[in-house]
Amino acid sequence: MLGNFIYSNPTKLYFGEDSLKFLKDELPGYGKNVMLIYGGGSIKKNGIYDKVVEILAKGGKTVFEDPGVMPNPTVKKLYEGCKIAKENNVDLILAVGGGSVCDYAKAVSVSAYCEEDPWDKYYLRMEDVDNKIIPVGCVLTMVGTGSEMNGGAVITNHEQKLKIGHVFGDNVFPKFSILDPTYTYTLPEYQMVAGFYDIMNHITEQYFSGEDDNTSDYIMEGLMKSLIHSSRIAIKNPKDYEARSNIMWTATWALNTLVAMGKSTDWMVHMLGQSVGAYTDATHGMTLAAVSLPYYRYIMPYGLAKFKRFAINVWNVEQSGKTDEQIASEGLNAMEAWMKEIGLVMNISDLGATEDMIEGIAKGTFVTEGGYKVLTHDEIVNILKSSL
Ligand code: NZQ
Ligand code: ZN
Repeated sequence: MLGNFIYSNPTKLYFGEDSLKFLKDELPGYGKNVMLIYGGGSIKKNGIYDKVVEILAKGGKTVFEDPGVMPNPTVKKLYEGCKIAKENNVDLILAVGGGSVCDYAKAVSVSAYCEEDPWDKYYLRMEDVDNKIIPVGCVLTMVGTGSEMNGGAVITNHEQKLKIGHVFGDNVFPKFSILDPTYTYTLPEYQMVAGFYDIMNHITEQYFSGEDDNTSDYIMEGLMKSLIHSSRIAIKNPKDYEARSNIMWTATWALNTLVAMGKSTDWMVHMLGQSVGAYTDATHGMTLAAVSLPYYRYIMPYGLAKFKRFAINVWNVEQSGKTDEQIASEGLNAMEAWMKEIGLVMNISDLGATEDMIEGIAKGTFVTEGGYKVLTHDEIVNILKSSL
C-alpha cells in the first residue's frame, strides 16, 4: 500500500428484510419538514410509497413531495427540487428509489442554499460546498451505484450535452440508508443486470490502477467473485434472497470509498460511459458495459501484470504453457462471456449512439490520469468507434 489516507464513512446502514421499520427511529433526529423524493412511480406500484408515508405520518412529519426524478436526473429538475426544499424549510430529505433519486437528493441538499448556479459551481467548476447542507436519508430500491453510502451526485445537462458526477465529502453522504434486498425484486431484468455491471465496473475502475501490493485489491477480488457467483443465481431466480442480498451488500462496498483508500484509481470507463449517456440518456450500467471491452483491451498491454492477476484470481484462468498476454486476454474474454451471459448491451449503437456523435462524445469525455494509460483525444475516438 503506497498512499496515506483519512477514512471516514458516517452513513448508518439498516440492512435486511423489513429494515424499513427502523425509519421511525431515525425521524426524531430531524425537524418536522420532510421532503420526500422519488422517481417515476415504481414505489407506488410496489407499495413502498404507502409504507414510507405511513411511517412519516406516525412520526408527526409534514411531507413535501418531489416526485418524477428521472433516470439520469437533469439540472432542470435540480432547480425545481431546490425551490421546494428552500420554500418549505426542509429539515430532512428522504430519497426513496435508485441511484438517480439518491444522487438527486444529495444534489438538492447542497444546492438549495447555494447562492450561485449549482451547475456552474459544483459541476463545471467542481467547487466544494460552503453553504448549508440539508441532511439526506435513503431508502434504496435499485442496486448498483453505491449512492446509498457515498457522496456522489451525478447530474445531466442536456443543453450542454454533459453528464458530470461531483463526489462530495462525507458531510454530504446520506446520514442513514435503509437497504431491504426484497425491495429490488420488482426491478425489470434490464435494470437489474445494468446494476450488476455498474457494480463490476466500480470495482474494476479501482482495481486496474497502480502496481503496489494493496489490501484493497484482494478485497476487490473477493467482491468480484461474489458478484459473478450471485449474478448467475439472480438471473435464474430474481427472488433468491441470498443472491440479491449479497449483490446489494457488494454494491455498497464497491463504491463506499473503502476500496479506494491508499491506492490510485482509474474511472476512465465511467468518463466514457457518462459522455455516451449525455448524448443518448441510456441506462448508466449499459453505457459502461458497451465501452468497457474496447477500453480494457486497449490498455491491457500497459497494465499487463494486473490484467494477468485479474484473469487468474477472478476468472480462474489456467496458466500453464501460456504467455502473460494470453492469460490476460483470456481474463477479459471470460469477463466478456459473463457479460453476454447476463444479457448486457455490448455496443453503444444499441444504446442510440451513432457515428456522427463520436466526435462530440469524445470531446465530452473527461480524461482521468490514474489508469494505466492517459488517453489522447484520438485514442478516445478509436475506443468509441470500436464500441459502436
Ligand atoms: O423512477 P422509477 O419509477 O422509480 O423507476 C426506476 C428507473 O426507471 C426503476 N426502479 C428503481 N427501483 C425499482 C425500479 N423499478 C421497479 N422496482 C424497483 N424496486 O429503475 C430505473 C432506474 O433507476 P435509477 O435510479 O436511474 O438507476 P441507478 O440506481 O442505476 O442510478 C443511475 C444514476 O446514478 C448515477 C448514474 O450516472 C445515473 O445517473 N451514478 C451514481 C453514482 C454515485 N452516486 O456514486 C455512481 C455511479 O457510477 C453512477 O454514475
Ligand atoms: Zn457507475
